[in-house]
Amino acid sequence: MNQPHGGKLINRLAAPERAAELEAQARALPVVALNAFELSDLEMLAIGGFSPLEGFMTRPDLESVVRHQRLASGLAWSLPVTLAVSEAQARELSARGRAALAAPDGERLALLEIEEVFRFDRQEEAREIFRTTETKHPGVQYLYSRGEVYVGGRIEVFRRPRRPFSHYRLDPADTRRIFDARGWTAIVGFQTRNPVHRAHEYIQKMALEIVDGLLLHPIAGETKSDDVSLEVRLRCYEALIQNYYPKDRVLLALNPASMRYAGPREAVFHALIRKNFGCTHFIVGRDHAGVGGYYGPYDAQKIFDEFSPTELGIQPLFFEHTFYCRSCDGIASPKTCGHGADVRVILSGTQVRAILREGGELPSEFTRPEVADVLYEAFRDSHEGQRV
Ligand code: ADX
Repeated sequence: MNQPHGGKLINRLAAPERAAELEAQARALPVVALNAFELSDLEMLAIGGFSPLEGFMTRPDLESVVRHQRLASGLAWSLPVTLAVSEAQARELSARGRAALAAPDGERLALLEIEEVFRFDRQEEAREIFRTTETKHPGVQYLYSRGEVYVGGRIEVFRRPRRPFSHYRLDPADTRRIFDARGWTAIVGFQTRNPVHRAHEYIQKMALEIVDGLLLHPIAGETKSDDVSLEVRLRCYEALIQNYYPKDRVLLALNPASMRYAGPREAVFHALIRKNFGCTHFIVGRDHAGVGGYYGPYDAQKIFDEFSPTELGIQPLFFEHTFYCRSCDGIASPKTCGHGADVRVILSGTQVRAILREGGELPSEFTRPEVADVLYEAFRDSHEGQRV
């Protein structure tokens, strides 16, 4: 199994006695209410999913990450993890050393030791991180919607946010224990924000041929509104594992992080997170964490050339665009199939959603029937249809 990034698994969850103490202290501190995205970051920081980070970034780290894809210490790190507040709130905070961090509903969860209250050029951040400053991009849109001032410092969580699907909530310490108990030493991590289709299944199984186990690790934090809900995705993953996977070689667990849609930079970020959960390998396919046409299909693979393998410490496994080929009668990619586009079954996420909305059927070459059934049912329930 792999070492955490930076060598040590961070734990910023207070033990019960200390938690009670911190909770009492938090009552006398100014409160910063986190949005859902920041809340998922808080959780990742607390459980060590973002090791070696111990809190929200201060300027030296943010600047170095934006400009050089490394923390101020030089350690590879590709995306900001920041807390933003309004000007008014910043004035209240800068004078004090600590703040209480609350969930969006106001419940206090953590203490923040304020190290720095600062500003950063958003245009630069957007351009470097997302490769665009267009507000149509969901990551840029979110960045521009936040308060103008960042607050950096270490956090300590005394109350974990209440979350659904608790049996799939495995912290890095848990996944590591499970990998150990199963005797897995080579583990591949798979990031996903979508229901698993046959292309995903194929690349996971290709990887499974060369490692001991698969961590199927869907995003459980914020996603854009037209992505399929977590509840439905989980039912898809369960149907797939139940019917098509050797159950003792797969671990399904949730990644509490939110989607950034930062394509290439997020691929590196995703790899480092899975390293913290104990993975030795990480799958990067076509247009990983991409959105719209902002990134080239293989930009998220090329970016790994900007890091030496030792500085990342996790082996990326690259896969080309995978599809069903009628002539091959199986899933293939341009690397394994020489047939033309006319015999390839390729559906975009938008096409899939359109089929589901209109009550049509997904081809079995594209989606396993058991997974399609879950999607049909979900889209008949109007709430899923309304998401798209
Ligand atoms: S992502 O935003 O989480 O990357 P998605 O859940 O669709 O979106 O993808 C999960 C992983 O599968 C990513 O590594 C992505 O590059 C890869 N992937 C998705 N579809 C394909 C495909 N048809 N061929 C190759 N790789 C793919």
